[in-house]
Amino acid sequence: MKVLISEDELQQGISKMATEINGQFGEQPLTVICVMTGSIILVADLIRQLTMPVKLGSVHASSYRGDTSRGELELDTSMLPDLNGTNALIVDDIFDTGHTLNAVHNHISRLGAATVQSAVLLYKHGRQELEFDVDFVGFEIPDEFVVGYGLDYQGIYRNLPYVGVLESGDLAAEQENN
Ligand code: IMP
Ligand code: MG
Repeated sequence: MKVLISEDELQQGISKMATEINGQFGEQPLTVICVMTGSIILVADLIRQLTMPVKLGSVHASSYRGDTSRGELELDTSMLPDLNGTNALIVDDIFDTGHTLNAVHNHISRLGAATVQSAVLLYKHGRQELEFDVDFVGFEIPDEFVVGYGLDYQGIYRNLPYVGVLESGDLAAEQENN
């Protein structure tokens, strides 16, 4: 595993995002929407640095079918709180093609939120497939498959405290363990 973003660097990037979000919303209440499962760790770290009254909701999105390629997007929005008139901030782990965030954004917009913005920890370069502007970005990264700090490969590695790039040796070791 090659470390791409260390624990210290992650915390610096998240503090910078929190400062930007605090600056933009001031004391206005914010409903943070955690896009499960990948953004669970980011959301836990980020919201503890937000200073306005925060409500927390979640949606469940999955598009990867046990591989590094994209499958059809499944979206479960049954756990959302009432968003009518709120400022909603969708938080996801990574912006890759943009389909996930775009779909979540469209859904949330239809639920009557006054404003809908988005934040991602990682923005992967050269992969965007549709027009979508992310409001808050932690780190821009090259087009490599990354894991850790919430991000998985076949359901594992989410617990790594850093963001790393899988190397061929990691994948071979993984296959031996299965
Ligand atoms: P998008 O819909 O293509 O933007 O993909 C976004 C989702 O795909 C993210 O929420 C992640 O769950 C997953 N994903 C995209 N790239 C990676 C990666 O490099 N590692 C792990 N998961 C990824
Ligand atoms: Mg995800």
